[in-house]
Amino acid sequence: KNIHMIAPSILAADFGNLEKDISMVNSSEADWFHIDIMDGVFVPNISFGFPVMQAVAKHAKKPLDVHLMIIDPDRYLQACKDSGASIITVHYEACAHLHRTLSAIKELGCQAGVAINPHTSVQLLKEVIADIDMVCIMSVNPGFGGQTFIANTYTKIKELRHIAAGINDNLLIEVDGGVGLTNAVQLVEAGADVLVAGSFVFNAENPIDAIHRLKNIDVT
Ligand code: DX5
Ligand code: ZN
Repeated sequence: KNIHMIAPSILAADFGNLEKDISMVNSSEADWFHIDIMDGVFVPNISFGFPVMQAVAKHAKKPLDVHLMIIDPDRYLQACKDSGASIITVHYEACAHLHRTLSAIKELGCQAGVAINPHTSVQLLKEVIADIDMVCIMSVNPGFGGQTFIANTYTKIKELRHIAAGINDNLLIEVDGGVGLTNAVQLVEAGADVLVAGSFVFNAENPIDAIHRLKNIDVT
């Protein structure tokens, strides 16, 4: 089994000095930049849009993992790719024609992910699992950083790995929300490949060390 990846969420960075936090992530053991885009409609908050993402892309030396918390994301896939996305993740709950949306992401040459809210069953992904690169299991209700981790996530990871077995063994399982050292070991042992961490990293006294500790947990 490959070592798990760490994706610090820029939502928790200092927007007044983004370049400093981007350099920190560049020089850390982090694997990706996690970019949270919100529309104030699908989720009850607005984060930032493509101009800010382009500014991140300009300095980032690692892939941008873009989490679109927006309704009807088809309208923005091209802009997302043009703004530097490597992975584009859309919400299951926000796509009336999810299969078409995922095909469009792949036609752009990006990797395709599907995010599911805490109330959404992993069973609903069965028909698209062969066609996607990643599932993002939300372990909080999307919209805000710094929320409390929801514990049914462990069961969902195991269930999803079971569904994907034999159909898509390369499927990446990402966990997003409330992730830190209190749950990282259990998440990776359950089958998570990518840990998104916002406040755990950026509120730490030493963010580089926080990333180092998340990356180097003892997994059995
Ligand atoms: C929540 C976002 C998350 C968030 C995670 O809607 O999708 O990526 O930034 O932040 P923490 O790690 O603080 O829960
Ligand atoms: Zn996110």
